[in-house]
Amino acid sequence: MSSPVLIAPSILSADLSHLQEEVASIEPFADWLQIDVMDGRFVPNTAFPVEMVRTIETSLPLDVHLMVQDPAKYVQEFLPLHPQNITFHAEAAADTASRRALMQAIRAGGATVGIATNPPTPLQAIDDVLGEVDLLLVMSVNPGFGGQAFIPSVLKKVEEARKRYPQLMIQMDGGVDAQTAPLCIRAGANNLVAGSFIFRAPDRASAIASLRSSS
Ligand code: DX5
Repeated sequence: MSSPVLIAPSILSADLSHLQEEVASIEPFADWLQIDVMDGRFVPNTAFPVEMVRTIETSLPLDVHLMVQDPAKYVQEFLPLHPQNITFHAEAAADTASRRALMQAIRAGGATVGIATNPPTPLQAIDDVLGEVDLLLVMSVNPGFGGQAFIPSVLKKVEEARKRYPQLMIQMDGGVDAQTAPLCIRAGANNLVAGSFIFRAPDRASAIASLRSSS
């Protein structure tokens, strides 16, 4: 797999009282900007309502990660922002019909489609649509908060998905830092989300650069 690794800083760990400056500080060095949308129901936290995201000015493609119970509602809220990608959780869309309806709605709005799995969810749980999505997000923490420890057992899921789908974009999110990023890349991930590692770093540019290599 030769495609370059994309880095998507997550603004969940940014200083929200200076959000525009925080985004500007990573914009020249990042590939995507990940927006962690949380509804307080699917995860025990709330974050980034569309009203807040609308205020962000950036040239970075927006990657909207819906950690919500009702993804269809949020897809309609976020499509007017013209995101690059919208990812919904397999655990919030249990059957194939609802997954396909979400995929159709997201693509009709001009975005690519991602499906996410939490650490306990096996890859088999998304066999019905894995060959049809644009991006697989393999969570390496249980969603809800930044700054959690990386769960290495999920790397097996990444290896299996990469073997079955050589061209699929595989994203990892949660506890990604200079130590865990090479593990993710070697397992087959080619898109990495990092929040606390980047926004807590004294030099954000070199923090982002350090995530790109598998060595
Ligand atoms: C989990 C969030 C976080 C965030 C990144 O709900 O999705 O994974 O994006 O957090 P860090 O990089 O601080 O683990």
